[in-house]
Amino acid sequence: MRIAVIGLGKLGAPLAAVLASRGNEVVGIDLNSGFVDAINQGRAPVVEPGLQECIDLAGGRLRGSSDFAAAIPGTDISFVIVPTPSVDGVFTNRYVIDAVRRIGAALRGTDRYHVVNITSTVMPGSTGGEIRAALEEASGRVVGQTVGLTYNPEFIALGSVVRDLLHPDMLLIGESDVRAGDVLEASYRATLPVMPPVRRMGWVNAELAKISVNTFVTTKISYANMLAEICEHLPGADVDVVTAAIGADSRIGGKYLRGALGYGGPCFPRDNVAFAQLARRVGAVADIAEATDAINRRQVDRIVSLVERLGGVNCAVAVLGLAYKPQTPVVEESQGVMIARRLAQAGHAVVVADPLALDGAGAVLGDSVLAAATAEAAISMAEIVVVTTPAAEFAALSPGAFTADGRRRIVVDCWRILPASIGEVADIVHVGRGPAEGAGR
Ligand SMILES: NC(=O)c1ccc[n+]([C@@H]2O[C@H](COP(=O)([O-])OP(=O)(O)OC[C@H]3O[C@@H](n4cnc5c(N)ncnc54)[C@H](O)[C@@H]3O)[C@@H](O)[C@H]2O)c1
Repeated sequence: MRIAVIGLGKLGAPLAAVLASRGNEVVGIDLNSGFVDAINQGRAPVVEPGLQECIDLAGGRLRGSSDFAAAIPGTDISFVIVPTPSVDGVFTNRYVIDAVRRIGAALRGTDRYHVVNITSTVMPGSTGGEIRAALEEASGRVVGQTVGLTYNPEFIALGSVVRDLLHPDMLLIGESDVRAGDVLEASYRATLPVMPPVRRMGWVNAELAKISVNTFVTTKISYANMLAEICEHLPGADVDVVTAAIGADSRIGGKYLRGALGYGGPCFPRDNVAFAQLARRVGAVADIAEATDAINRRQVDRIVSLVERLGGVNCAVAVLGLAYKPQTPVVEESQGVMIARRLAQAGHAVVVADPLALDGAGAVLGDSVLAAATAEAAISMAEIVVVTTPAAEFAALSPGAFTADGRRRIVVDCWRILPASIGEVADIVHVGRGPAEGAGR
């Protein structure tokens, strides 16, 4: 199939590369010429595991362009994956409308049938409202006749985008009409190794289903963190033992059920807030989403006060983990960054380390913290160490990293990933496992 992907960012670049690596002819369009050049030079424009391999596999089937008028008319379908930033808690369609207008203008005067597929996360009501209006106005065509309009979000997690795109649990399709949905479904049939269940429906149900998936998952995360907090007040309690047991119940399931730190990143926090805003707008109540968000925000306070109780005033703290999760440089809504910032504001000397996110975190934290090139270097400068992401690099730390100067350090292990052998040379406090000794909680 001939496909255009509009937006070559964290999600768009991997999607374009996956589609092309599986035999489609793909043109990736972005206003950022650096990203277009990268694609044309066969380089990954963003950091994502497996992306470069997909680009290599795609070879000449993947090219970049900034020219909608030249690129769009020869394609069957365009996937729009541009930002939808949150303003006052709701997603704005500004960039989507801009992209759709450019696609529409490129289609005007041509007669090839085309489907515009919105992949960006949008507020329910958007596709059938201002997006449809912008497409019809710019193209001079009527949606459902010579142009189709679909809403088809991807369910991916940064760090595993390529895998998630190739092996989705389901395809969610909101469609203007059957023909449009058929063309979109055919693009997946031409791409995926195994077709998952396909759920086809109207636009608004698909828009609501997308943010409902994310808010349901965040509810599980906050539930596990609430449980961890309870375990920290209950002698002998261990959150991992409890979540392993309840996750074995098939009605609950074990995924995203790990009491540790809160969720972050570009999607979960804002989707939850948008869901609650949507409810308010339509005169309904989303109190589970609001509680989920409140519990999530509390996790930073919980760890900061634990560190202060354990380390005392003005202790030197190493924060290991600045990305919002392992395997990505993204620091948006990262609880590691929030913890580092709060401790620095409280007067602690803070040194930070992360395998991929040091530059991104530096741009946010400035010189309020010291950046260390390695976890070992950060540990050597601190009295108390906090491990905020379950990165493999931290799980592989050896006792030697803690013994350089003979000082015995306290280590707050939020994800309980450090090898037990480190307990011989440092005092490990496992978040979520009974009251911490000396922590007064
Ligand atoms: N990143 C994720 O984990 C993720 C997951 C699910 C859904 N989404 C959704 O996907 C969308 C894109 O997210 P992202 O993280 O890839 O964003 P991003 O900021 O990484 O990339 C967006 C790209 O779109 C380009 N762009 C903006 N306006 C454009 C236009 N008019 N024409 C062409 N290109 C344009 C930008 O230059 C940028 O390269 C958002 O709606 C987001 O909510 C993202």
